[in-house]
Amino acid sequence: MHSVHYQRPFLYPYQKTILDSPARFTVTEAATKVGKTTSHIIWLFEQAIQRRPGQSVWWVAPVYTQAKIAFNRMRRYVFNLKGGATNAFFKINETNLTLTLPKGGVIAFKSAEKPDNLYGDDVYAAVFDEFTRAREESWHALRSTLTATGGKCKFIGNVKGKKNWGYLLAQRAKAGEDNYAHFKISAYDAADAGLTTKDGRPFKEEVEAAKKDLPESVFKELYLAEAMDDGTNPFGYNFIQLCVQPLSTMQPVCFGIDLAKTTDYTVIVGLDKNGSVCWFDRFQKDWMQTTSIIKTLPRNTPIAIDSTGIGDPIAEDIARAMNNVELFKFSSSSKQQLMEGLALAIQARKITFPQSEEKMPPHHAGHIKNELENFEFEYTRTGVRYSAPPGLHDDCVCALALARHKFGNTSGWGKYSVW
Ligand SMILES: Nc1ncnc2c1ncn2[C@@H]1O[C@H](COP(=O)(O)OP(=O)(O)OP(=O)(O)O)[C@@H](O)[C@H]1O
Ligand SMILES: [Mg+2]
Repeated sequence: MHSVHYQRPFLYPYQKTILDSPARFTVTEAATKVGKTTSHIIWLFEQAIQRRPGQSVWWVAPVYTQAKIAFNRMRRYVFNLKGGATNAFFKINETNLTLTLPKGGVIAFKSAEKPDNLYGDDVYAAVFDEFTRAREESWHALRSTLTATGGKCKFIGNVKGKKNWGYLLAQRAKAGEDNYAHFKISAYDAADAGLTTKDGRPFKEEVEAAKKDLPESVFKELYLAEAMDDGTNPFGYNFIQLCVQPLSTMQPVCFGIDLAKTTDYTVIVGLDKNGSVCWFDRFQKDWMQTTSIIKTLPRNTPIAIDSTGIGDPIAEDIARAMNNVELFKFSSSSKQQLMEGLALAIQARKITFPQSEEKMPPHHAGHIKNELENFEFEYTRTGVRYSAPPGLHDDCVCALALARHKFGNTSGWGKYSVW
């Protein structure tokens, strides 16, 4: 009585080839916005309708919010397929992000943040979305769940430098590893196939606009799906490495402070007269404690402090109590300028910071280098944005950039462009 009449929706040929690949594992390196997620939602649904009660298929994304977005897209999508009928097709569990089909198959949406949560179940098919942004352990965990079932897994993502397991996996797939198939979709492939933007313009227009706005290496990664050594990192891995020096023991001449917002950290960075990091603190405390810690910093040393949003009253309170405090508001353009200044300093080796380590306590100054390496450009409708990838922090980068800004103001560097 639960017969499902399913007709596959329209797919572009480049999407169809991937979905219909006989390979157990497909690894797709693709440009942004070419329909990776959309097409794989369709595939996972097709896998789920073949399942019996209690059998699961998984959608895995690097962080919870992304898993939730896919969950909502799947719901909406099937609702639309049914012509907006009011009797629900899925049994929906909002808490666990699961959708149960009439025949009993379950589609579960999972976050890869804690690989431990990915062990356990027998999984009959999986999609790993944005795999180049997730940790390798999460793939190991997912892989173990596919063993008993011989389940298929499809990887989709943008390329993101060459320093991640996802890149290596794609290379192996490309080299013809057993059971793997490799696919690459550039923005031009998608444009040639007739993809349009959400507002109905040819995709090519969007691609050409991005090409004008973006540094070449960023464009190559996001639109040509070609991994670059530095790719979307605005500082450059080699340059970052060249700036590593032990924590200085000299006196600070300026500070940069990034205040914690909701889930992140307050970070204090001090630079000595050579531009070397000589002071570092990173913590999560309430506003009272945060304020009093900051007020114990050397009185007359210039400070630039992030006063964006909810940080504003705290920053003002600090500014009243101390001398030499500059309140700095982050907007997309002020952040861009600040980060370009930092990139310039790093590329000219005018700033140094300590080495990072495998497992660091929260207050370890090595977090600076870690965050610099993970930091990225993002291209959006409204322009280029600088930020940490989803699920990661950029407070150290912001504090360092603010310290550099203060340092730059006192030492009078020339202004020239980063690219
Ligand atoms: N087969 C299709 N038919 C109609 N529209 C499509 C199709 N494939 C993709 N699209 C549209 O293209 C846009 C981008 O799709 P999607 O979000 O799946 O891309 P993506 O490659 O996952 O992007 P991102 O880089 O943001 O992860 C969406 O508006 C989607 O509706
Ligand atoms: Mg996507």
